Amino acid sequence: TAAHSACHSALMIILLLLGFASLAACSDHPPAEDPTQGKWTVFKDDEQLHPCIKMYATIRLKLSYVDADDAMKEVPEFAVPADAIAATGEGKSSCYERVHIGDEFIDSQVLHLEFPHNEGWNVRLAFTQDPRMGVNQNDYALWQVNVTANYSSMPDLFHNAVKDHTHTYFSVIDFLNPPYIAGVEYTALGDSLYCPETPQEFEINVDESVGPFASISLSDLWMQAYMSTDDFGKQVICADDQTDLDMVPVIISAILAGLVLFTLITYFVYRSRLPTDILEMTEPEFEEEHEHHEHATEHNHLHDNHNGSHHGHNNANHHDNYGYKEEENRF
Ligand SMILES: *[C@@H]1O[C@H](CO)[C@@H](O)[C@H](O)[C@H]1NC(C)=O
Ligand SMILES: *[C@@H]1O[C@H](CO)[C@@H](O)[C@H](O)[C@H]1NC(C)=O
Repeated sequence: TAAHSACHSALMIILLLLGFASLAACSDHPPAEDPTQGKWTVFKDDEQLHPCIKMYATIRLKLSYVDADDAMKEVPEFAVPADAIAATGEGKSSCYERVHIGDEFIDSQVLHLEFPHNEGWNVRLAFTQDPRMGVNQNDYALWQVNVTANYSSMPDLFHNAVKDHTHTYFSVIDFLNPPYIAGVEYTALGDSLYCPETPQEFEINVDESVGPFASISLSDLWMQAYMSTDDFGKQVICADDQTDLDMVPVIISAILAGLVLFTLITYFVYRSRLPTDILEMTEPEFEEEHEHHEHATEHNHLHDNHNGSHHGHNNANHHDNYGYKEEENRF
């Protein structure tokens, strides 16, 4: 019994240790302060008390450009400076702006970022509640990203660029086919969208007839537009990050189940290979059964001897016994 329970306790301890190890592995990513993450706010009022847009994000851009020799070039992905400024004023950040698309306009809130060390650069992120952009009632979405580039002020990246040439990359809006980004970067009014894990990439322009290619990647993202509170509302985790988080317990359970099975199989295989005499030592039930059996044969053996060789000698005793019993039975 001792060997048995010792084995069981060892199994339990191994399982517990595995459990703790997996828990530790799960909770072992503290939110590191990312130096590329910018924190921007657009206010409704000059006193800067009531925000309409708050955005914490690392924004990366991938841009192509036409150089001075008319060749199409692509620059390595680079981050919008974390110290970019949410600029205000005419045609810049705004809580109420009609963004023109051809003859139409989309009521929007716009975050307009200017690069402090690169003159002539800006990124414009437009949010809306307009159903024509595929936004459901009581939701808001990021629907357009424009990037204005002044190649001359980033000469290290844009080699041999046309001097003092600025270009605006913009996502072409098709009213019949609402923008993909609006179907991903959206949530309910009053809630904030939180995407800490998976960087999300969106095309700005892929149509060469419109201009050079451009895409944007958003990571470490926490944002909200159409705000009516002074701080972020309830965090809604991005669909991409949700599936990631949901997979963690599933994977860990699968690994643990596999280990339990492995341990049990190993235990039984090991046990089945033990010689019988060791099994007798470790298996109390088997041992007891065996003993009883042995005792029983011994007794029979003794009886046989007794009755066989000393038969005549004990006849008197036997009779005495019977006589006594008969006497007893009379009363
Ligand atoms: C983006 O650029 C396009 C083309 O210039 C323009 O029609 C649109 O209004 C711009 N959108 C924003 C949010 O600035
Ligand atoms: C573009 O950058 C160059 C170099 O920094 C600067 O001289 C020029 O004024 C900029 N153009 C615009 C439109 O900001």
